[in-house]
Amino acid sequence: MKRILTYGTYDLLHYGHIRLLKRAKELGDYLIVAVSTDEFNAIKNKKSYHNYETRKKMLEAVRYVDLVIPEENWEQKVQDVKDYKVDVVVMGSDWAGSDRFDYLKEYCEVVYLDRTEGISTTKIKKDLNLQTPKNEINQIPETKDERKKKEGK
Ligand code: CTP
Repeated sequence: MKRILTYGTYDLLHYGHIRLLKRAKELGDYLIVAVSTDEFNAIKNKKSYHNYETRKKMLEAVRYVDLVIPEENWEQKVQDVKDYKVDVVVMGSDWAGSDRFDYLKEYCEVVYLDRTEGISTTKIKKDLNLQTPKNEINQIPETKDERKKKEGK
């Protein structure tokens, strides 16, 4: 079984994301997406609109995605490749040639896929004039069923 791993924030899920995930999955059999946590985004001076749990749930609903794991720091990638027995790390071409991923070639294959032109989370926010709430990251309230499940009822 060929295992693929990719990293990203995946905030406002859009067609560029879906295209990347589809092509990533086509490179193998099992696709793992490491999604940046809210704490890691803060370290990167980024703030997503949706919190980690929501971004994770959205990705889990995408048919190409088999597993979502947290990306919590810059240093975890080699360990991820080993822990999840990854054959290929895939990233969008915006990362091609950067030191962020190239060093992983020592541990697995690294593939850069063309970005989809004309779309990004940043562009959607700008076009819709969306502001991330100043003090908090948007959180979708849990449903009654989810609450009951958590409380073991
Ligand atoms: N991606 C892509 N085509 C796009 C946008 C993103 O292929 N038009 C890919 C990125 O290269 C990355 C993955 O999707 O591999 C997740 O990217 P992310 O940074 O979360 O999405 P963006 O929309 O680029 O977000 P931002 O504008 O906040 O950078």
